[in-house]
Amino acid sequence: MKITVIGCGYLGATHAASMAELGHEVLGVEVDPTKLASLQAGTTPFYEPGLDELLGKHVTAGGLRFTDSIEEAGAFADLHFVCVGTPQLGSSLGADTSYVETAVRSLAPHLTRPAYVVGKSTVPVGTAARMAGLLSELSPVGGDAELVWNPEFLREGFAVKDTLEPDRIVLGVASERAEQALREFYAPMASAGTPFVVTDYATAELVKVSANAFLATKISFINAVGEVCDAAGADVVALADAIGHDARIGRRFLNAGIGFGGGCLPKDIRAFVHRAGELGVEDAMSFLRQVDDINQRQRQRVTAIVKAMVGGSVAGVRVGVWGAAFKPDSDDVRDSPALDIAGRLHLRGAHVSVYDPKAALTAAARFPTLVYTDSAVDAARGADVLLHLTEWPEFRTVSPDEVGSVMAHRRLLDGRNLLDLPSWRAAGFEARGLGRA
Ligand code: UGA
Repeated sequence: MKITVIGCGYLGATHAASMAELGHEVLGVEVDPTKLASLQAGTTPFYEPGLDELLGKHVTAGGLRFTDSIEEAGAFADLHFVCVGTPQLGSSLGADTSYVETAVRSLAPHLTRPAYVVGKSTVPVGTAARMAGLLSELSPVGGDAELVWNPEFLREGFAVKDTLEPDRIVLGVASERAEQALREFYAPMASAGTPFVVTDYATAELVKVSANAFLATKISFINAVGEVCDAAGADVVALADAIGHDARIGRRFLNAGIGFGGGCLPKDIRAFVHRAGELGVEDAMSFLRQVDDINQRQRQRVTAIVKAMVGGSVAGVRVGVWGAAFKPDSDDVRDSPALDIAGRLHLRGAHVSVYDPKAALTAAARFPTLVYTDSAVDAARGADVLLHLTEWPEFRTVSPDEVGSVMAHRRLLDGRNLLDLPSWRAAGFEARGLGRA
């Protein structure tokens, strides 16, 4: 089928390349000239494992093209995916849906044949119904331009796999015709046994924010328990292993540490609380404020522990930091707890040297006053304390002795609870984790 993908950031670029991989003819629409030039040249403007190869392959083969013309998009296909961002508003905790609205408003007048517009962006509940109204009002074919809401659950770092092998497909539809069209489009997933949940717009929108809110709650739950473990002399990792054996709880997303970040979980829980407030049910969602508070508190907790480890003040202290991205296998530093902690220490007078295998450039653009090094050992050179903040696999292979030999003092704080603390202690380190007293 011929499709367009409007907005080619993490979500859109991945969707565009993955759908080309499934054999569809894809036209991506991107208005940012720098991103567009990169995509047209067949390279992704960000780091995502496997995506560059996939994108390059289909741009070269001609099955995937990019443009900045929404008019061209309208003429090209009858199935249009909207993948633009919905960042947090500057003025409130709510999500900014203006990019979604602009996409629909600009595309609709060019829909001169019956078409489907499929929203994939994460939006506050009620947005889809509003967009459906706009679409039929502004399109020359009226109600024959139909909206579908099809939320996306891909994780950065696994974006291609999650798109090609989703664990479910959720369709919010207003007609059986729309359901059939999308079932046909996603036929390869249906053949692979992927479950389909077909529902209304509001439920589809809420599925997405509820999934992210649940994941965020799980992480804050274990981090809160981790604080109690620290106070009580218990070990949150053993505790998570033990409760995780209960299939009702599950071990995934129970890794205690410096908390969650990124372009999704933090802003999605805030937007959820905000939208619940608009709907008059803020109390029902107010626990998410605490989820957010617990998450933010982990960052303060780390700075307090570092202070205590170095004897009371970080002013003039040299801190080595491993990791800047919000998670491994990504160069994304949006709301990254690692970079936030590095920045906080720097602002309190510490000399901070950061190493991240992929995120040095994105981190330096956001926080240019930190020192960025080219290797894990270089970040630790001369340091009074070393912080492990993003769990890139390479940090687990570095020899504690080698790192210790370049440091001024052998002190380690494992903010992700993934390093083998006994081997660091054996190398003479004062080594601690979070919730592992
Ligand atoms: C998240 C969801 O997992 C995806 O399903 C969703 O599609 C996506 O948001 C989105 O809305 O677009 P992502 O932001 O890529 O995906 O990252 P996650 O893997 O969810 O990790 C989020 C944060 O939680 C990271 O900072 C990670 O380090 C942290 N985390 C994760 C923990 O602190 N502990 C855990 O046990 C797991």
